[in-house]
Amino acid sequence: MAPAIVSDVELPARVVPETLATPASKASTSKLFSLEGKTVAITGGARGLGITLAIAVVEAGGSVACLDILEQPSADEWALLNKIAKANGSSVSYQRCDVTNEDSVDEVMTAIATEADKNGAPFWGCIACAGIQQQLSAFDYPAADFDRILKVNVTGVFNTCKYTARVLRDRKTPGSIVMIASMSGNIANRGLACTAYNTSKAAVQQMCRSLAQEFGEYQIRCNTLSPGYIRTAMTDQLLIENPEVEKTWMAGALLGRLGAPEDFKAPAVFLLSEGASFVHGSDLRVDGGHCASA
Ligand SMILES: NC(=O)c1ccc[n+]([C@@H]2O[C@H](COP(=O)([O-])OP(=O)(O)OC[C@H]3O[C@@H](n4cnc5c(N)ncnc54)[C@H](O)[C@@H]3O)[C@@H](O)[C@H]2O)c1
Repeated sequence: MAPAIVSDVELPARVVPETLATPASKASTSKLFSLEGKTVAITGGARGLGITLAIAVVEAGGSVACLDILEQPSADEWALLNKIAKANGSSVSYQRCDVTNEDSVDEVMTAIATEADKNGAPFWGCIACAGIQQQLSAFDYPAADFDRILKVNVTGVFNTCKYTARVLRDRKTPGSIVMIASMSGNIANRGLACTAYNTSKAAVQQMCRSLAQEFGEYQIRCNTLSPGYIRTAMTDQLLIENPEVEKTWMAGALLGRLGAPEDFKAPAVFLLSEGASFVHGSDLRVDGGHCASA
């Protein structure tokens, strides 16, 4: 016989001493995914994945500060972002910032936090999305190019996380850091000669675990989001240089397609949100199954 379902029995109050200072949220599930009243800085926010994630944050009720080396963000996405923000009462801003320039990142994060307070949506964290790619045989890879990839993809991500965390620590507020790594941090992409890039993404994954270890006590969560192949300007360039590679990529596409920037909206919002309050030092791989088969 099936056991009776007991639905209206009150559970005895259970006090877990170590959770008194930082209890799990009792909010409803839809609220757990909300970014309302929170401001998030997004590097690489002028185009591609970065600006799509900015749209996601604003759709989830948050405000965004997009940072990039480009003069201006992509016009269509920027117009859409502003339209959604206006409807939601959120704020959006765009500033030029080179993530490899430590002083500039320091200045910009402090300014974003000050502005966020004025807008009534305090600084909550960042998505470190700026990154570069280069395809070149390891036999010929100049050390200067290798250094440049590491400078943007590793040191640039570190600067972004460091100054995000300092602002949060100094204000004694919790927050969330999402670092965009790649499945290339776990595997070498068949048919592509990208040693520096792959090395940099493995470094981002390890950096996340190390930062998680240091920032956790301040309730600043850090996680990586590792995408598989996404159709953006970055991959368009790779495919122009190496058109036959698309067949190899599609052979590993277990869902029969490559990714679109929109595939990463919900994963990024989840990692930022209070719904992920116990997700820390993790890597969320979102690759359409690519790494699941050899
Ligand atoms: N496209 C993919 O298939 C794919 C897969 C896995 C991971 N990723 C990662 O996703 C992120 C975004 O990639 P994307 O495909 O949107 O590429 P993208 O080239 O369209 O966007 C990257 C953005 O970073 C900016 N940027 C570069 N150097 C910078 C610097 N020094 N300071 C500030 N901004 C800088 C660029 O101007 C650009 O706007 C990158 O970290 C990339 O490695 C992409």
